[in-house]
Amino acid sequence: MQKHVDTLHAKVAEAHLGGGEKRIAAQHAKGKLTARERLHFLLDEGSFEEIGTLVRHRSYDFGMFEDRPYGDGVITGFGTIDGRLVYVYSQDFTVFGGSLSETHAGKIVKIMDLAMRSGAPIIGLNDSGGARIQEGVKSLAGYADIFYRNTLASGVIPQLSAIMGPCAGGAVYSPAITDFILMVEHTSYMFVTGPNVVKTVTHEEVSSEDLGGAATHATKSGVSHFTCENEIVCLQNLRRLVSYMPQNCEETAPNFPYTSPGTEERPALDSIIPDNPNQPYDIRDVIHGITDEESFMEVHKDFAENIVVGFSRIGGRSVGIIANQPAYLAGVLDIDASTKGARFVRFCDSFNIPLLVLEDVPGFLPGTDQEWNAIITNGAKLLYAFSEATVPRITVITRKSYGGAYCVMNSKHIGADLNLAWPSAEIAVMGPKGAAEIIFRKEISEAADPVAKLDEKVAEYTETFAHPYRAASLGFIDDVIEPRHTRARVINAFRMLENKAATLPRKKHGNIPL
Ligand code: HXC
Repeated sequence: MQKHVDTLHAKVAEAHLGGGEKRIAAQHAKGKLTARERLHFLLDEGSFEEIGTLVRHRSYDFGMFEDRPYGDGVITGFGTIDGRLVYVYSQDFTVFGGSLSETHAGKIVKIMDLAMRSGAPIIGLNDSGGARIQEGVKSLAGYADIFYRNTLASGVIPQLSAIMGPCAGGAVYSPAITDFILMVEHTSYMFVTGPNVVKTVTHEEVSSEDLGGAATHATKSGVSHFTCENEIVCLQNLRRLVSYMPQNCEETAPNFPYTSPGTEERPALDSIIPDNPNQPYDIRDVIHGITDEESFMEVHKDFAENIVVGFSRIGGRSVGIIANQPAYLAGVLDIDASTKGARFVRFCDSFNIPLLVLEDVPGFLPGTDQEWNAIITNGAKLLYAFSEATVPRITVITRKSYGGAYCVMNSKHIGADLNLAWPSAEIAVMGPKGAAEIIFRKEISEAADPVAKLDEKVAEYTETFAHPYRAASLGFIDDVIEPRHTRARVINAFRMLENKAATLPRKKHGNIPL
């Protein structure tokens, strides 16, 4: 028996060496960890169990059969994060540049199927030169097998993608279908066609970093949700991200131990809103004032900064936060903010994570750029996402709630469960000045002193609408509360809604305006 065991050990040792010492050194020289080192930092110590260690490719063309390393460029298996089961694959760039062959794809597909069957998240650590060029269409078929499973798994189990090296060509579409993408600064990039093809086709000269690096996708395209300064931070972020999520769509996220300090009153919230309604403030101060200490994990931080979204905990329970940001473009809703918000709402609703909306929005952004690029369709995404969400939904209006944005930002009329307003709230079709200029245009232009007349009419409109009491009298706002009481009210409201059971009309699926 010992002879057989020794043979096994030799094969496993060979598998663990991947593409060999030289290529491992080259990987380290680029500031990158190996595929196995990444798993070590991602998973609870000693929890990883590998599946498919001894898989080898079956390719004959171009002399490939002479070179068949064990594992075939991807390590697959399962392990735990904070004791909770996750499935993982980690591409090994030291083996054929982590390129995807038929068998490499088969290994990923196998653990995707297991993850679906056992209802646990799947995490992909991507570091690959793309389709294994020597395999041709077999490799493309492997990609398509993965894309198909990504789509079927969407909304069933959380799917997370870390990009830790190249990710080019159609390969980008697997991460794109997953729920969150994390990129590592300076060592990862994603694009459908690389700089050389770009130069040939469009005559643009662009570096890989500018075309598809972490900063580009965090700020310009919004493809990436998290930018990580190095691989360790990226792996730690993955661990943290998982902590806000349930294992699958049938479960709820884990509750964290939380002991009330005796009072949930937060007097600091009383002094955040400036006296001047046009002066900005940072909505994150409100978020921190309501949520459990240091529990806020912002998503899409550098993209569409006029809306802030992220995970948090309130009284130990996972909550998704969607908040207009008055400190950036006055918190206006534009195309990017709408799609960013909508995508986040959809994730939370898929996985039973209640929503808290903090609203201070002057409306939708006007202009040809927005209209020609379909603010109508894109704004509708946010409206649709909120309307369809069946999780507990609470809105707190801190200041402005104007126009269509009033309807869209989780209003009662589209299914929110509890809508609260601070006394500083202004709920109207538009701001007092704009409103007075339209409805009293004739009166103002004919006045002996048009400026004084405008001021008078602005004051009249402000008196009539620029407060929360008209909406409260109609029951569109459930209560007007002092800011300092917000946290306590929100904790109680989410408890009240814990057993909420809402269903949608029977259908195959809706048709969200894409
Ligand atoms: C086979 C590959 C490979 C690939 C890299 N290698 N990419 N082998 N298929 N796609 C091998 C290299 O031959 C080399 O082998 C080793 O991996 C490391 O590659 P290097 O080029 O030395 O590394 P580096 O300089 O870091 O450059 C990395 C790279 C480059 C930028 C990714 O390798 C590259 O451009 N590769 C080709 C990328 C590509 O065009 N892929 C196809 C995209 S189309 P040795 O033996 O020397 O160590 C696609 C379609 C998918 O993916 C469609 C899905 C629907």
